[in-house]
Amino acid sequence: MVEKKKGVKIAIVGVGLVGASAAFAIMISGMASQLVLVDVNKDKAEGEAMDLGDAAAFIKPINVMYGTYADCQGADIVVFTAGANQKPGETRLDLVQKNIAILKESLPQLLKYCSESIILMVSNPVDVLTYAALKISGLPASQVFGSGTVLDTSRFKAELAEYCQVDPRNVHAYIVGEHGDSEVALWSTATVAGIDIEQYCQQRGLAPIDRQLVAERVRTAAYEIIKRKGATYYAVALSIKRICEAILRNENSILTVSGLVNNLYGIEHCCLSLPTIVNGTGRSKVIALPMTVREEEALRNSAQVLKEIIKQVGF
Ligand code: NAD
Ligand code: LAC
Repeated sequence: MVEKKKGVKIAIVGVGLVGASAAFAIMISGMASQLVLVDVNKDKAEGEAMDLGDAAAFIKPINVMYGTYADCQGADIVVFTAGANQKPGETRLDLVQKNIAILKESLPQLLKYCSESIILMVSNPVDVLTYAALKISGLPASQVFGSGTVLDTSRFKAELAEYCQVDPRNVHAYIVGEHGDSEVALWSTATVAGIDIEQYCQQRGLAPIDRQLVAERVRTAAYEIIKRKGATYYAVALSIKRICEAILRNENSILTVSGLVNNLYGIEHCCLSLPTIVNGTGRSKVIALPMTVREEEALRNSAQVLKEIIKQVGF
């Protein structure tokens, strides 16, 4: 007889602001029946598990526990959110030395128990860490990938929706490349209700979009938030929840996750974000969108920025 699967298990490694917020979002969604929280700071992980556990009477049954890497065994998805976050004025790339060191120390331990799990990298610089995680683990690129520009794409949609006075869910537009300063806004394929976004604005009697301003607001969104409250965590938590949902429900959703790109747009051996089908196998298939010459050049430039950092940290 085929053994029945015992519900969905998600592990979160690094239960700081992002990890704890993601745990909260996943818990409320009802998509998991078990959530394991792991942190070097055991008290923090235990405290978060206790706090989340107190919500039991308001949500679908879920076992929230803190634990060790061994407790992550059998997880469908491991979300990696361990590591330093940016201080005001720091870029994501500035975090690379600290967070690569944490990854090198923790991933091999985790892999002893989770070589079958999908590993979703979130810690920054997420594209570089995703590349390093792929190399350290030797696992396929469908199984190890990063949250990439899923968050930036949401920021882009929110900006455009406000401009176009329309529901953000009716905007189709992507941010690709690095989750960071060299990211690229794809204007040539941005649509609302299936029509080019500029045409849509014309039809509605709206002024043409100030592309530079919108792209700049998206690119600097995290800096502006960090300047005011020290960190970003709610929107990334929902990005994580959205990616987990696409995997667990085998949705074939198109999300701008970060993953290994080889022989595409002239880019090789680099992790960055492109619109990608996400389903039960993880990061399934990259969609090769038509891009203008300038968009392609900007994407290659983004890949170059990342490849230099990847080389600097020895991968
Ligand atoms: P935080 O400082 O609040 O939490 C980090 C946690 O990692 C801490 O609890 C710390 O104890 C833990 N940790 C450190 N080393 C560990 C190890 N070896 N094993 C297990 N846990 C360990 O930081 P945060 O605000 O939660 O940010 C976490 C990461 O997420 C940062 O790198 C940040 O830049 C990144 N981030 C990414 C995105 C994205 O879209 N990809 C968005 C926001 C933040
Ligand atoms: C973000 C983090 C800091 O909010 O990467 O974009």
